[in-house]
Amino acid sequence: MSTDNPFKLVILSSGFGSNLQAIIDKLHLQHNIEVRAVVSDTPSESVQRALRANIPCLFLPKHKKQSRENYDQRLTELIAPFQPDLIVLSGFMRILSSTFIHQYEHKVINIHPSLLPKHKGLNTHQRVIDAKDREHGTTIHYVDESLDGGKIIAQKRMKVLPFDTAATLEQTVKALEHELYPTIIQKLALKARSVVLTKGSETNV
Ligand code: GRF
Repeated sequence: MSTDNPFKLVILSSGFGSNLQAIIDKLHLQHNIEVRAVVSDTPSESVQRALRANIPCLFLPKHKKQSRENYDQRLTELIAPFQPDLIVLSGFMRILSSTFIHQYEHKVINIHPSLLPKHKGLNTHQRVIDAKDREHGTTIHYVDESLDGGKIIAQKRMKVLPFDTAATLEQTVKALEHELYPTIIQKLALKARSVVLTKGSETNV
């Protein structure tokens, strides 16, 4: 990345896209950051959000019997022209193959609605209620081959209150995520920029 060019994001999002919206609202074409493309595997609200913001949106559904490797190969081909500095998973409901991940080593991040390593996988809010956890929250992490297991970048915590349900937890966690995800992406962009500025010296942040 040169210091003149924007920090380029490609966002993969399958669902409602409220985190995508927060990233668009807080970062797109601001702070020298640009959302270059949104990829969705479903005809989701995320597609509408991208189109409303005039961001190229690529729809890549999975075909019956298509292997993960084959899907990810198509995904790689679609993403490549956008030359992303960071690939942001935001409610993307697919596990990526190791070939894809190695191609973008340390350039793929995800947000997961629990305090990892607790509650990997789905239905985290209900599992917090069932486990009578006193604390809940969200985690941003690098993506590796494991399910929700890559290196943790940041977490935000909240208390679970006696009257909380899975629905209220989801609402509160999403509010935390809408602050945390754009903040962390902006920090990663700044860090990448300072690496460029100090290339050849000992310091990289
Ligand atoms: C978020 O809670 C995120 O942590 C998880 O999926 C949810 C996506 O929500 N990965 P949205 O589509 O951004 O509204």
